[in-house]
Amino acid sequence: KYQAVIFDLDGVITDTAHYHYLAWKRLAESQGIPFDEAFNEELKGVDRMGSLALILARGSRSYTQEEKLALADAKNRHYQELIATMTPQDLLPGALEALEAVRAAGLKTGLASVSKNAFTVLDRLGIRERFDTVVDAARIANSKPHPEIFLTAAAQLGLAPRDCLGVEDAVAGVASIKDAGMVAVGVGSPEVLRRADYVIPSMREFRLGDY
Ligand code: BG6
Ligand code: MG
Repeated sequence: KYQAVIFDLDGVITDTAHYHYLAWKRLAESQGIPFDEAFNEELKGVDRMGSLALILARGSRSYTQEEKLALADAKNRHYQELIATMTPQDLLPGALEALEAVRAAGLKTGLASVSKNAFTVLDRLGIRERFDTVVDAARIANSKPHPEIFLTAAAQLGLAPRDCLGVEDAVAGVASIKDAGMVAVGVGSPEVLRRADYVIPSMREFRLGDY
């Protein structure tokens, strides 16, 4: 039925979504801006400067471009400290099995991540070779929720969007998949991932034949 499965990275393959959360939380609180898990859902899948803009919009003052770049850089340095000690043990349960099942079924594997740290994370996890194509921040002009990243992944695989299944943990990521014209599997809660065609609680429950 499908010819490829295109996976998000942060929060699907590994729990870096939690590291992004911790780093943004510290940054927001350093500016006196409240930060919680519910607001964090709006940031998942959104690129670095886009996330910062959403956070600062909740504060009471305005920031110069120079200040914004300094804040984004501080967040990224904290995030890079958090990912520095990652190893293949940090793959989420079920993630490797899902990648293996997709290839065993004769389908291609793709990765779609708006993170500038995506290749670092793939290398720390030792899984770069498990993807037939990778689209990261360097290859796209528009962050999720724009469909560009999933469309680019499909194009790089030489496939039509309808032949691809997308897997995402973020509201913005599911929107990107759906607006690309693909079927979306959400990983998380159905109350949050409302536009997903299927929702599984974790990658442990990923079954290619169910979608
Ligand atoms: C996405 C994450 O994968 O990458 C976001 O879901 C993050 O939380 C975004 O902001 C950008 O990441 P980076 O590593 O370029 O700051
Ligand atoms: Mg994600």
